[in-house]
Amino acid sequence: MRQRATPQARDSHSPPRQVEAAFEIRRLRPGEESEIVRAAELQDELPDPEAARAYLSDSRNVFLLAYHGGRAVGYLRGTSLGQVKSTQAQMFLYEIAVATKFRRRGVGTRLVHELLRYCRKVGCEEVFVFTDPGNTAAVRLFTSTGGVTETPADRMFVYRL
Ligand SMILES: CC(C)(COP(=O)(O)OP(=O)(O)OC[C@H]1O[C@@H](n2cnc3c(N)ncnc32)[C@H](O)[C@@H]1OP(=O)(O)O)[C@@H](O)C(=O)NCCC(=O)NCCS
Repeated sequence: MRQRATPQARDSHSPPRQVEAAFEIRRLRPGEESEIVRAAELQDELPDPEAARAYLSDSRNVFLLAYHGGRAVGYLRGTSLGQVKSTQAQMFLYEIAVATKFRRRGVGTRLVHELLRYCRKVGCEEVFVFTDPGNTAAVRLFTSTGGVTETPADRMFVYRL
């Protein structure tokens, strides 16, 4: 997985963390690629409308957007993978990001919970995600939502469903 900028550690000026009901999480459906294009500023690389269209038309792909007042402020995307040891799929959580201004308000947590809820519903065996162990925000996010690693230095977090 591509690594993103390492977030700043919490300092004495950080606002207290609040979980807000004002955020809506929605899974994009086929044909909604314009929402991915509209949310370009959240993504490391500019989305291509045709690629986004193909991505959403593949039911193995999950693209969740978090909205605040109609504006996209966070996203998560993952792809369901088949296995040969089990007929159940694994979900690879490939990317998650929240706009800087909206971080530490529970949006990342809501996005992960929504993915877990979806994966349980469709019968996935597990969800996995890779991150840099030095990415404090990501490690806290994945740990506090139930992801586990085999060793503290492990890059892979697994959610057993
Ligand atoms: C990682 C990221 C998605 C977290 O999103 P977020 O909306 O700020 O996360 P939440 O507000 O739901 O916080 C989740 C947990 O992480 C903790 N956390 C978030 N940012 C943190 C930071 N900078 N330092 C320490 N802890 C942090 C929160 O306190 C919370 O822990 P808790 O549940 O134990 O209180 C966000 O920081 C981000 O977009 N980072 C850049 C992209 C990135 O690194 N993505 C991950 C790549 S694998």
